[in-house]
Amino acid sequence: MYFSLLLFVTIFFSKTCFGKSKPVHYQPEQIHLSFGGPNQMIVTWNTYSPVKESIVEYGIDQMNFQASGSSRILVNSKESPPFIAIQYVHKVVLSGLKPGTKYIYHCGSRWGWSSIFTFTTMPDDINWVTRIALFGDMGNINAQSLSRLQKETVKGMYDAIFHVGDFAYDMQDNGGQTGDEFMRQIQPIAAYLPYMTCPGNHEAFGNFTNYKLRFNMPGDVNSMNMFYSFNIGRAHVISFSTEYYFFIEYGFWQIKNQYDWLIKDLEEANKPANRARYPWIITMAHRPMYCSNNDKDDCTKSESLIRIGIPWFHKFGLEDLFYKYGVDLCFWAHEHSYERLFPIYNRKMYNGSQEKPYTNPKAPVHITTGSAGCQERHDAFHNKTAAWSAFRSLDYGYTKMTIYNESHIYIRQLSDDQGGKIIDKIWLIKEYHGSYEDNTLKFQRFNNEKERLKSPFFNFQNSQMEF
Ligand SMILES: *[C@@H]1O[C@H](CO)[C@@H](O)[C@H](O)[C@H]1NC(C)=O
Ligand SMILES: *[C@@H]1O[C@H](CO)[C@@H](O)[C@H](O)[C@H]1NC(C)=O
Ligand SMILES: *[C@@H]1O[C@H](CO)[C@@H](O)[C@H](O)[C@H]1NC(C)=O
Ligand SMILES: *[C@@H]1O[C@H](CO)[C@@H](O)[C@H](O)[C@H]1NC(C)=O
Repeated sequence: MYFSLLLFVTIFFSKTCFGKSKPVHYQPEQIHLSFGGPNQMIVTWNTYSPVKESIVEYGIDQMNFQASGSSRILVNSKESPPFIAIQYVHKVVLSGLKPGTKYIYHCGSRWGWSSIFTFTTMPDDINWVTRIALFGDMGNINAQSLSRLQKETVKGMYDAIFHVGDFAYDMQDNGGQTGDEFMRQIQPIAAYLPYMTCPGNHEAFGNFTNYKLRFNMPGDVNSMNMFYSFNIGRAHVISFSTEYYFFIEYGFWQIKNQYDWLIKDLEEANKPANRARYPWIITMAHRPMYCSNNDKDDCTKSESLIRIGIPWFHKFGLEDLFYKYGVDLCFWAHEHSYERLFPIYNRKMYNGSQEKPYTNPKAPVHITTGSAGCQERHDAFHNKTAAWSAFRSLDYGYTKMTIYNESHIYIRQLSDDQGGKIIDKIWLIKEYHGSYEDNTLKFQRFNNEKERLKSPFFNFQNSQMEF
């Protein structure tokens, strides 16, 4: 009797504690970097088991510095069979880094350390030429541009990556495994270069939880990566959420909250000392103001939400704001294609001149680069080309931007389909940065609100844009 009870207890325990026990997972994975504040770098990684420490050891020749941080719990679920997947996202901020210096680092804890990676901090040099790769809409499946980006990263061709929304398709899928595998796929890039992001529609699930927890962008922690800005080289970069305008179930007030922040940030960036040091103002956000695709998305409308603002009231539209504060360059994605526009405002072209549209343009320049590759493949173009559409392509690929100095930016579009061929390039040249309202355009603007509302442009029906 006593013996059989003992046997039962032993079998019971070995089944529950040993036979079916899950492996522990203390080993750091999905390691990625982002810029923090000045002279900072943020290191983020995941473990599936709770680990009480989050540590980065780092240094120049040896890893003789240590910084610690904390972790947050990310919970994803799968419908069938029902299960809950819990993981821990660790974040450590490295501060007081030396400018223009190559560091080595690894991350983890006394329960397990990652391999060694390297990063180079931004030089504090006004002549620093900054090289960025940018794209949106890259998924776990059909990530056409991924391997080339991995290769070019280890060759040292870039200083940072901008991913303009839509990751993995979708990060929460398969109990978060789709997001995990995507984050592993980008590790050969993102463990070496700051991987700067903005949210897209594919991140919306659960109020953008996976996006908010898996990434750590600079700025106010309350914005949870949804909007922030940072300086790089000669540029002030603003990343924001177009998704607030579309997922209003998560809080309509978030549109205003971000809009007010944008005004504050743009005002600060336009203070003479700031604009002199960082003359270029570049935005990145997911859904474009304009596009000539034929899918009836917001950007195909004559009054796109992002451009004009919320219907009827026309509040919180961003085109007027960007015009007023002299935004130089706007990057978008969402459309799975590449499209470069002539300088544009109010659906009218404002070329620098007929021959040199991008030399001293009189309105912002918009580029949509959403063709990095994902399972949804391409979004076709309208068969008529809009007059303001300067170049468009359905090849998979990504954009390379080189910020040379205060007056010159070089932008190229690489086609992965054509073996890395550059299919589009422009020099954006500006001898003056600032509000477009200050120049000769002034007279072309509406003189008062009444005139503005009478204009057919502001009539309240949101028709397809006509080209
Ligand atoms: C969504 O998240 C934001 C924080 O990023 C929060 O302020 C907001 O209240 C949330 N919305 C809902 C409906 O929970
Ligand atoms: C802007 O420049 C392009 C290319 O030179 C030209 O096709 C277009 O008509 C110009 N637009 C205006 C309004 O001058
Ligand atoms: C272009 O679009 C128009 C209107 O949608 C359509 O009637 C026409 O057949 C299309 N042409 C081609 C070549 O696809
Ligand atoms: C900026 O860089 C461009 C391209 O290298 C060069 O042609 C131009 O002279 C530079 N301008 C200044 C002010 O350094």
